[in-house]
Amino acid sequence: MKKVEAIIRPSKLKAVQAGLVAADIPCITVMPVKGAGLQKGYAEVYRGTEVPLILHSKIMIICVVSDENLEKCINVILDNASEGNIGDGKIFIYDVLDAVRIRNGVRGNDAIR
Ligand SMILES: Nc1ncnc2c1ncn2[C@@H]1O[C@H](COP(=O)(O)OP(=O)(O)OP(=O)(O)O)[C@@H](O)[C@H]1O
Ligand SMILES: [Mg+2]
Repeated sequence: MKKVEAIIRPSKLKAVQAGLVAADIPCITVMPVKGAGLQKGYAEVYRGTEVPLILHSKIMIICVVSDENLEKCINVILDNASEGNIGDGKIFIYDVLDAVRIRNGVRGNDAIR
């Protein structure tokens, strides 16, 4: 099992979610986050003073998927979240030790299907 953590533009969330559902990957966790990438955030002038290092608002999507579904999940995110512009976001991938469905105690790949 793998954990896919994607940080995307908020405007892309609906398309990414719809794409994941269509790819039979319906289980996701979503949270609003703030962050900066290579461009170190942005600056704004407030009452004549420059305020640097303002963090961009992004959305983080977490999907725990089977090894088999990993590439499909990544491709859905790439297809639906990319504009080809700086700030499109980033995907991090982690190994997952186990998963447990609380309703019935089912473990592993069966718990995330
Ligand atoms: N190395 C990182 N560690 C933690 N969070 C990151 C990292 N890189 C990017 N992020 C998060 O992802 C968001 C989007 O990153 P972003 O797309 O700007 O990456 P980038 O490397 O600057 O690429 P680009 O040059 O295309 O903008 C950031 O606002 C931040 O929240
Ligand atoms: Mg950037």
